[in-house]
Amino acid sequence: MKQILHIISSPRIEVSASRKLGNSVLEKIQEKYPDSVVKERDLTKNLVPLLEDVHINSFFTPAESRSPEQETINQYSEGLISELQEADIIIIESPMYNFSVPATLRAYFDYTSRAGYTFQYSEKGPEGLLKNKKLYIAFSSGNIYSEGPYQAYDSNVPYVKNVFGFYGVTDVSVFRAEGLSIPGVMENALEKGIESIVID
Ligand SMILES: Cc1cc2nc3c(=O)[nH]c(=O)nc-3n(C[C@H](O)[C@H](O)[C@H](O)COP(=O)(O)O)c2cc1C
Repeated sequence: MKQILHIISSPRIEVSASRKLGNSVLEKIQEKYPDSVVKERDLTKNLVPLLEDVHINSFFTPAESRSPEQETINQYSEGLISELQEADIIIIESPMYNFSVPATLRAYFDYTSRAGYTFQYSEKGPEGLLKNKKLYIAFSSGNIYSEGPYQAYDSNVPYVKNVFGFYGVTDVSVFRAEGLSIPGVMENALEKGIESIVID
């Protein structure tokens, strides 16, 4: 039985291409693993708070010394991290917003990137602590970034891969609905992205 974590980050709902692409990835995974269990983490609901002094302090204060407020913040972060730890398969919907990920997703990583939980440092350098997981990235964009002159503008897919790679998740597949603003490409961009989905 596979545990799937489905992370949603587009602030758009009905017209969201990354949601449609991510849902198609989820459907295909469920076809392959019919008894899988899905946990949805919609980052556009109950927004992850932007990091302030109090949040960072709570992460670095030993459990026995935390104030009740710090304890609440820490438990919230640990809850997000435990969803990642429990997942065998992670689907992350990562639409392109101003050359990067939506602010909701960036804020999420501030709460999941924690030494001793998702990574650790030793004399050998950093080591990811999330092992044996598969990541599927459902990417959508107005322009084209997989090839051509705007490849270097993509601070989305390489960034998400780097964050998860740092966590130890290196088995990654990327599916793209791209060119959604380019006449002549946009008409079939989502369909092409959906057709490219292969669950390995
Ligand atoms: C606020 C905003 C910023 C955007 N920034 C970019 C961008 O930098 N590059 C790009 O190719 N497309 C950009 N787009 C287009 C989106 O990537 C495209 O609409 C994509 O479908 C968004 O995913 P979604 O439909 O799941 O929200 C932007 C769209 C919006 C609304």
